[in-house]
Amino acid sequence: MLICSTKNELKKAVAGLEPTNTLGLVPTMGALHQGHISLVKMAVDENALTVVSIFVNPTQFDKQEDLEKYPKTLEADLDLLKNVSDELIIFTPSESEMYGNQVESKAYDFEGLDQVMEGAFRDDHFNGVGTIVEALLRLVEPNKAYFGEKDFQQLQIIKKLVEQKQIPVEIIPCPIVREAHGLAMSSRNERLGSALRLKAGFIYETLLTAKTKFGMKSAIYVKDWVTSAFEKQPELELEYFEIANVKTLKPIEEKLKSEKYRAFIAVYAGGVRLIDNIALN
Ligand code: PAJ
Repeated sequence: MLICSTKNELKKAVAGLEPTNTLGLVPTMGALHQGHISLVKMAVDENALTVVSIFVNPTQFDKQEDLEKYPKTLEADLDLLKNVSDELIIFTPSESEMYGNQVESKAYDFEGLDQVMEGAFRDDHFNGVGTIVEALLRLVEPNKAYFGEKDFQQLQIIKKLVEQKQIPVEIIPCPIVREAHGLAMSSRNERLGSALRLKAGFIYETLLTAKTKFGMKSAIYVKDWVTSAFEKQPELELEYFEIANVKTLKPIEEKLKSEKYRAFIAVYAGGVRLIDNIALN
């Protein structure tokens, strides 16, 4: 495993790759868990060489407090990664290495994909994500880059970014990895106590029931049902539940057989914000 902290070191590390071999990139913010590791495993399986970046990107946080509280567990991260492969390249740049002295995001037009759900509740978040992902793609120049469906909106926005900027990379979606009781894995889960962590399994349980109901009922009916289900859960506060078209992320107006829909949810559990989503058809 090779750890690079500067762009020059990274460039040198990937330079020796034969042109016929492919390079994979897995961008992360560290505090790794099995959700991240599933992306790394997929990248290792599909490419001759894989770069995993670990960088807590300041421009995607709307609250300074969240940025400061973000867990930094580099030693444990490296141990997890070592178990996947000895041949990974780990990129751990400093803030100034990535941003120089101008720590700010670029302005993108994601054609409305960033105006709903996470974008509506987290000011400027996706401009920050776009800025760092574009910088990483241009630096590493991978053939394939791996993103989790856990952040489905982020995944669609990155696909849009790559298309708009004509960056020659294949974006590979990776399925959501869950804890045994269904809660989507997240570094934030550590902040829930064990009782609340179990309780939060209700989020996925609700998504599964919503999926069954969506097969028979209207989107409005399902939305109302989910809202009232959460009203009966004093420890879980629903921020939003939306059913949206997977391509446009626009809330459903009329259910069309030819279109694919997904349900998206954000919930506060003891002050910890959790998100999840599920394919409906
Ligand atoms: P981070 O939250 O560290 O997530 C890194 C990648 O792991 C993302 O693609 C995310 O969707 C994926 N991931 C997280 N939990 C997952 C789970 N339970 N199952 C499957 N995939 C999961 O997302 C970011 O970092 C940042 O926004 C980043 C893209 C690195 C830009 O800073």
